[in-house]
Amino acid sequence: MTPPSAPPAPEQTPYLEWLHSDFGEPAGVRHPISETVGNVQLCQDCHMPHSTGGGVMIDRPSPPQGTTKDHFSQHHFVGGNIMLLNILQDNLQALGVTASAAKITDTRKRAADLLQQQSATLTMTEGAIRGDNLFATIGVQNLAGHKLPTGFPSRRAWLHVVLRDGAGAAVFESGGWQADGRIVGDDGDEKMLHEPHYELITRPDQVQIYESIMQNSDGQVTHTLLRAAGYIKDNRLLPRGFDKKTAAPDILVRGEAAADGNFIGGSDLVTYQIPIGGHTGPFTITAELLYATISYSFMQDLDNDAALPLVGRFVRYYDKADKTPVTMAAVTGQLR
Ligand code: HEC
Repeated sequence: MTPPSAPPAPEQTPYLEWLHSDFGEPAGVRHPISETVGNVQLCQDCHMPHSTGGGVMIDRPSPPQGTTKDHFSQHHFVGGNIMLLNILQDNLQALGVTASAAKITDTRKRAADLLQQQSATLTMTEGAIRGDNLFATIGVQNLAGHKLPTGFPSRRAWLHVVLRDGAGAAVFESGGWQADGRIVGDDGDEKMLHEPHYELITRPDQVQIYESIMQNSDGQVTHTLLRAAGYIKDNRLLPRGFDKKTAAPDILVRGEAAADGNFIGGSDLVTYQIPIGGHTGPFTITAELLYATISYSFMQDLDNDAALPLVGRFVRYYDKADKTPVTMAAVTGQLR
């Protein structure tokens, strides 16, 4: 066996990202669960919400002795993986799932609430019409305690921006999506390359996609974990307080975002410059931050191994599943 020629690439690093942010615990400080110390927020604070309706905690199994205790962390660790819950729900019998459909609906709702209410906000920080161009700057704020989207490198979040004129006709669209999970204009989905990170978007085929994209030891994009030698792009939104200049190699920002001055801890700004010649206002611009658990290109790559029975089975479940992205945040602005 030949030794690996490149240093191993970390698959997921939410703990290290958290430690490097405002949410992380300073070295040597123990944070008692359920008390807020300064900015520190533990994983449990966000992911295991406290019970409020009273509950029983057994503290001595033998002989059994229960004390009623409120405000304990519930064992509900949800993240953003709605796709897997959809697949479980669609295939309860085939997969031998013992949880009831009602339980899965509950968990799905918790995951959707986390994504829609606690993950991100959008603002329109600037909007103006100058000559034949409309300029709008969209601010994206990350509320999570680590990079967003988090974890496994198939997740992605992107800006879907639509401009309409006074008659309601679409003048411009970036980040539209198709039922098969493809993002229109993504060089990753269309050419198996990767879409760069942007500060300024001027064309519909330019899309701001927050994602981590792996590369193999030849510097080519790969979606196979075992081929990964590192990341060619990692512009996932940084948690508040994350200084990209002092970040360790495992959690570094990769690609154009490293040099983007307004891509900072907690937020990013993207400016859209849209030609409006021939259209009359008032113009309405809407921006949505969309989330998908599994990118189209990741699935294309997996599909290459669909002859393996378990992979083939997953691909079939995925093909039938609802791939509608989740809207994490939205903002609308009017310009005349
Ligand atoms: C301030 C709140 C907050 C804190 C603190 C926090 N998280 Fe999260 N986490 C979120 C939100 C919101 C999401 C959903 C958005 C996403 O998946 O990117 C999430 C998603 C995740 C996911 C993704 C799951 C999936 O299915 O994709 C993982 C894994 C995770 N968190 C682990 C952790 C760990 C480990 C810690 C502590 C080191 C932690 N989180 C601390 C808010 C938080």
